[in-house]
Amino acid sequence: MSTAPPARIPLLIDTDPGIDDAVALLLAVSSPDARLLGVSAVFGNVGLETTSANARRLLALAGRADVPVAAGAERPLVFPQAQRAGEWHHEDGLGGRADTLPAPGPLDPRGAVELLADLLRGAEEPVTLVPIGPLTNIALLLASHPELTPKIGRIVAMGGALSGGNTTATAEFNVNSDPEAAHRVLAEESVPVTLVPLELTRRCAVPGDWLAELAASGPRCALLASLTEYYRTRIRARTGVDAVPLHDAVAVLEAVLPGTLRTEAKPLAVACAPAGQRGTVRIEAAGRSRPVDVAVDVAVDTDIPRLHAEILRRLRTLDDSSPDPA
Ligand code: RIB
Ligand code: CA
Repeated sequence: MSTAPPARIPLLIDTDPGIDDAVALLLAVSSPDARLLGVSAVFGNVGLETTSANARRLLALAGRADVPVAAGAERPLVFPQAQRAGEWHHEDGLGGRADTLPAPGPLDPRGAVELLADLLRGAEEPVTLVPIGPLTNIALLLASHPELTPKIGRIVAMGGALSGGNTTATAEFNVNSDPEAAHRVLAEESVPVTLVPLELTRRCAVPGDWLAELAASGPRCALLASLTEYYRTRIRARTGVDAVPLHDAVAVLEAVLPGTLRTEAKPLAVACAPAGQRGTVRIEAAGRSRPVDVAVDVAVDTDIPRLHAEILRRLRTLDDSSPDPA
């Protein structure tokens, strides 16, 4: 008796490319167990116009210009973004090599929230939403279309830090870029959320020999590896370690291969007061007063060598098809 192939997980990715976003996007489109329905761009590492163009360039590189890309929030919900991340990603967002990628394909005429809403509305099974930048678009989607939350199977978000930040001493970049949006999604919504925080993604950084293997895997993989060099050089200069933390790719692997990460349920909140702790994710004390007592599945551990091997194995299939990048 023939067995039906396993259903492919429908994905929507919200992103601010971003070098690690680039690896994450290409990981998504090279994963046969997932189906990328659409991409929304958000401000973050660099400005919205650049993140939006970069998302379209990356999909063109993968031969997936068919995936709709819409632009979303250009700024946070309330206060200005504390800082961008051009220091790590270059001002072009892709390590100074954005122009070595194919030209960006067309931008979907809908805004991010309407594209995400339309794709959720039309989905025949629950969709996995994968925000890998500031959570502004996701907060706006959930606020504008509460009727669509049943269409979201889960949210797998890269962000937050429970034991030391990368933007302030205690805040991680995505959450710190829009703490109000992060608090909304992590503490006030009823959609199941898996949070992939900095302390785990840092442990999953790929070493130099992994990057060398990627670079030797074909033209698309070589180009992708070349984007990481800018980040690699700065990480090595800052830490003395030759390794690149592909934060967003860890979240995407969990989205396409559920159970990759071991999680622990923790009720979370985000500090939003303008004071020093702004952007810090904390485990909310008992006796919460909020009407919705929603715990978040926080990723705490994984088999790191297996994760490295799985990401590389999937990315290598990018060069299985047409010989040259689009
Ligand atoms: O803190 C890491 C996160 O901030 C990643 O999503 C990276 O792309 C940056 O946006
Ligand atoms: Ca990102």
